[in-house]
Amino acid sequence: MVVVAAAVLGIAAFAVMVAKDRTYVASVPFSPQGEPNREIAVVYYSRSGHSEAAAREIARTFNAPIARIDADYPRDFSGQGKALSDARAEAHPQIRVEPIDLAPTRRVFLVSPTWLFRPAPPLWTYVEQADLRGKEVVLVMTGNSRYKQEEIDEFGRRVAKHWLRSNPVADVEGVGKRRHGKAQLRIDEARRWMAKAIELADGGEGGAIAAMMALLLGMRASEIVSRVVRDLDDDGHLLWIPTAKTEAGKRTLRVPDVLRPYLQRLAADSTPHAPLFGQHWRDWPREWVQRVCELAGVPKVTAHGMRGLHSTLAMEAGITGHVVAASLGHENVSTTVQSYAKPEAVAGAQQRRALRVLAGGAG
Ligand SMILES: Cc1cc2nc3c(=O)[nH]c(=O)nc-3n(C[C@H](O)[C@H](O)[C@H](O)COP(=O)(O)O)c2cc1C
Repeated sequence: MVVVAAAVLGIAAFAVMVAKDRTYVASVPFSPQGEPNREIAVVYYSRSGHSEAAAREIARTFNAPIARIDADYPRDFSGQGKALSDARAEAHPQIRVEPIDLAPTRRVFLVSPTWLFRPAPPLWTYVEQADLRGKEVVLVMTGNSRYKQEEIDEFGRRVAKHWLRSNPVADVEGVGKRRHGKAQLRIDEARRWMAKAIELADGGEGGAIAAMMALLLGMRASEIVSRVVRDLDDDGHLLWIPTAKTEAGKRTLRVPDVLRPYLQRLAADSTPHAPLFGQHWRDWPREWVQRVCELAGVPKVTAHGMRGLHSTLAMEAGITGHVVAASLGHENVSTTVQSYAKPEAVAGAQQRRALRVLAGGAG
């Protein structure tokens, strides 16, 4: 009986959705008045008008340029079926986008209906082909039941991945022998860097804490910004990285004492799935690594260089390449040795220097 009732309810809900999504809901068109606000732009896909209404309202609020994405999902039964099957297959359909100049835009609102708990496929195609480098992207979804956070996170990763793939120097070929590894700080410089980072963290700068995570935990910038409150575990002693692009990337890190109170403070009073640092792009820890370098008066290194220094110091402390590789999330130890740790460190693996070196302890 219960099963039949559930089935009937399910069919009824589906019928309502089909009827609703076949009916176009008109809204008042918008185009900017006078000089548009070029810092903001709105790009949207809508099949039956709800997302279009939301997109127009956002554009109207900011007097921002707006562009529509078109895709081939007619508002009849066949279009509904195609929408469902493309959403299920996570397809990237062909799209046409109204012309819009995003060059001066700082924040882009992407608006879409929810199809199977995630943005509709046309939006996924859009982020693959649009140049959103350096822009803040705000995703707005309309729907009639629910979305899944993991799908939204995946969409965010797709946008961020595209940022990296479209790095303007990515196609520039190096001349001469490729040098592995990024410039690293010397130990005295790293101590000065840490002292400055702690001072800033004490002053409430979350970015300084994120930057310290690159050095003290050897974490990637993307891993730092994607940590959520519940990843900090065991009274702040452990940090989980449960999802990663490789198996080796999934790991649990031991949080050094110096970092623990800061992370615990960030996690206090927040819900389990709240981002530990709030919403930030992966550029954020990188920028902070460099900001701290500047303020500490040491050479500017990259966040990746900090990850390398972590590896060098850990190797010098006598930890084997395997342990360092595991804590950095590398699949094989030779990547760690070639790209991160300085050769001297690998050779002098028995020197007893650990992260306490950075806190000013004897080597
Ligand atoms: C194929 C398909 C799948 C859908 N899946 C969801 C869903 O998972 N969650 C949800 O809240 N709404 C879902 N909906 C409902 C639409 O998201 C909702 O009606 C939306 O507001 C339509 O926006 P539009 O008028 O801009 O096309 C789905 C609709 C379609 C056509």
